[in-house]
Parts: sequence; structure tokens; C-alpha cells
Amino acid sequence: MKQISDRIFYCGIMNPNMRVFDVIMRTEYGTSYNSYVIRGSEKVAIVDASHHHFSAVYREELRAALGGAAPDYLVVNHTEPDHSGAIGDLLEAYPGLTIVTNAVAAKNLRQIINRGDLPLQIIKDGGCLSLGDVSLQFIVAPFLHWPDTMMTYVPEEQALFSCDVFGCHYCEPGILDTRIGYPADYELALRQYFDCIFGPFRPFVVKGLNKLEGLPLQLVCPSHGPVLTRGARLANALAQYAAWARTEARQPLSVPIFYSSAYGNTEQIAAAMRAGIVEILPDAACDLVKLDARTGEYAAAWALLNECDAFLLGSPTINRDAVPPLWQLLSQFDAVNSPKRPCALFGSYGWSGEACGNLAQRLEQLKCRLFEAPFLVNFVPTEEDLSRAAALGTRFARALL
Ligand SMILES: Cc1cc2nc3c(=O)[nH]c(=O)nc-3n(C[C@H](O)[C@H](O)[C@H](O)COP(=O)(O)O)c2cc1C
Ligand SMILES: [Fe+2]
Ligand SMILES: [Fe+2]
Repeated sequence: MKQISDRIFYCGIMNPNMRVFDVIMRTEYGTSYNSYVIRGSEKVAIVDASHHHFSAVYREELRAALGGAAPDYLVVNHTEPDHSGAIGDLLEAYPGLTIVTNAVAAKNLRQIINRGDLPLQIIKDGGCLSLGDVSLQFIVAPFLHWPDTMMTYVPEEQALFSCDVFGCHYCEPGILDTRIGYPADYELALRQYFDCIFGPFRPFVVKGLNKLEGLPLQLVCPSHGPVLTRGARLANALAQYAAWARTEARQPLSVPIFYSSAYGNTEQIAAAMRAGIVEILPDAACDLVKLDARTGEYAAAWALLNECDAFLLGSPTINRDAVPPLWQLLSQFDAVNSPKRPCALFGSYGWSGEACGNLAQRLEQLKCRLFEAPFLVNFVPTEEDLSRAAALGTRFARALL
């Protein structure tokens, strides 16, 4: 437990050993599940709970933060189990507790806790709840990063309980940003968290940040990682989020060509396609990105794929399918944020040629916009095949103008 201001107490849990979060994210620096107690003159609220793995130790931290008071409210900013997992336990420990949350989160909670009689008080965006000398204002911010997400503002403390926003998987016992021992690691964790959790929701981040405009802030209390304070890292985190969330089209266009090639046949087609594209878009970033089983680390290719304006995929057919590096690449395609992204397919084959057809089906599922039919060459491309590949590249580039 740690006191953060006159009326705000930290009762989160440190999990320095966590190395993977939600299956999707590597977490080199562990994480913390932050929970807070706000002690008003009349009522006491808990903001966010904890992961169910830590229910027992969380209860102790919470008891210390409550300082002998019985909590009246549990504000649920978000129902993802890293924050809601301990709620069932809390309700048993404190039968008088009322859960304060928005309608979408309430719907989720009913399916997470599986109890028909949840003591719920549903609030709306802009709603307010008094704790006596302090009050809670609710800022509903859907898709940051779940449809249920909201933030809670305490004007008397100029404190924002920001949920996952401005959070990161990082844990140090000092809790406050003024006590971070490894600032470069913290900065990296903040960026990685944004990319992984909020990257697919940039337009919603912009909307959420707009709702915060004009709010005086001394403290931002996120649900993971250090508490941000004015004069230390708070202004920087706000500015970084604003920059990272920007969604304006980039100039010049980015049109990467990802391919694999065992004997250089698909590679020749890739180079011809590129020549056709840069004829029309000489300034475009049209990288040839060769992938193979040794590539191992796909982070850069994934980032390029998800931030590009259009892309091409080339694969030979090996054992009746596209090769694993291409599937690996597509496994991280950002299906939330990239609908109708233009793409084209090509590849060399020997006798059955399923690679491009199979990739085409996957791209359709991902709602990409496939340009023309896949460009296939039987074994080694001829000069004529390469001219036709370049011509296709040219048509593809024109369609992007
Ligand atoms: C191990 C292996 C398995 C293959 N399996 C198929 C196949 O199932 N169907 C097919 O059309 N071609 C198959 N091929 C032929 C390749 O698709 C063909 O050689 C192609 O030109 C290779 O292109 P690349 O040089 O870009 O790798 C296979 C080739 C290898 C080496
Ligand atoms: Fe979350
Ligand atoms: Fe979270």
C-alpha cells in the first residue's frame, strides 16, 4: 500500500515475473495490476480490482489502503480479467459494496462473474458520484481498448484514473514516475503497450484524448505501470499518446512487397513488380522484404505490414500451400484497423500452384481488397513473364493514386 495524495491510496499488485500478457504480448519487465482507494469524507471507493491469481495478497493491500473503512463503491473502468478477476472475491469480503460502472461493462460483468444478483449502479458518460468532499466523474471511452472502457476523474484531486490508457507492462516498487529506476526501459514498455494494445484503435484513442482536453491534471493513475505525476512524466505521456495515435495518411505511400523464394523464381517476380510500382510512384517506400524460416523475429515485418498503405505478397507453392513465413506474417495482421487495404499476390509454382489461392482466401477473410487475380508463373519466369509482372505492378500503383 502507498499513499499517493491526501485521499488516494495505491493498493495494486506487482507481478515482476510475468513474461507474456494475454497470449499476445511479451512483457520483459513484468507488470502491475493497479488498484486504488479514494477516501472521501462520506464514502469510500475502490477503483479497479486485480487479477484473480493475486486475490489473497490484493485483499491485504486493499485492507491497508482502506485504513479501517468499509468500501462503499467499486468503480469498474474495464472488465478485462486482469482487473476484474478479483471482483467475485471482493463482493464476498465486502457484502455492502456497490459496483459502479457503465452499461456495456455491466453486461460483461454479468457474464464474467456469473452471478445474477450483482449489486450494480450503472452510470452514463458525464455522470457524477459524490464521496462527500471528493467526487467521481465518469468519462466513457469505448474501444480503449474494449467496448466497455471508461475513465474516472476526481476534480478535487485533479486525478484521472485512466484505465489501460497511459499504462504499461512495467513494474517497480516505487510506484510513482518520480521513482522509476530504469527510465529507458519504462519508455520502451510504454511504447510497446501502446502499439500492442492501442495500435488497432488509434481513432478511438484520438476520441478518448479529446474528451480529456482541458481537464486539469496533477495525477494520472493507470491500471498498469507507474502513476504519472505533473512535473515528472505526465506531460510527456500525454504528448506521446497524441503523436502515436495520429492517423493521417503518410506521404510518400508505403507499399512493401513481402515474399519468400527457395530458388529465386518468386524473387524475380517480386523485383519486376517493384520496378512497375516505382515507375508510377517513384517516391513510394516500396521495400522488398524477403522472409524465410531463419527470419525468426517478425516484429519489423509486422509493423511494416500494419502501417503500410498497400502491400504485395509473393509465395512459391511448397507442398500444396504458401510457405510458413507468409502465414507467420499474416498471423499478426491488424484486422481491426485495416479494412479494404489494397493488396496483390504473386508466386512461382511447379505443378499444382495452391499458394496464392490459399493466401487470397485468407486475405478475403481479413477484408483486404485483392487487386486482380494472383499473378502465377510456372517454374522459372521468362522475360515476358517479368514484363507482365511489371505491368501488373504499374496497374496496382495507378489504382493507389
Ligand atoms: C519441397 C518442394 C515442394 C514443392 N511442392 C509443390 C507443390 O505442392 N505444388 C506446386 O505447384 N509446386 C511445388 N513445388 C515447386 C515450386 O513451387 C517451384 O519450384 C517454384 O518455382 C519455386 O519458386 P521459388 O524459386 O520462388 O521458391 C515444390 C518445390 C519444393 C522444393
Ligand atoms: Fe485491457
Ligand atoms: Fe489491463
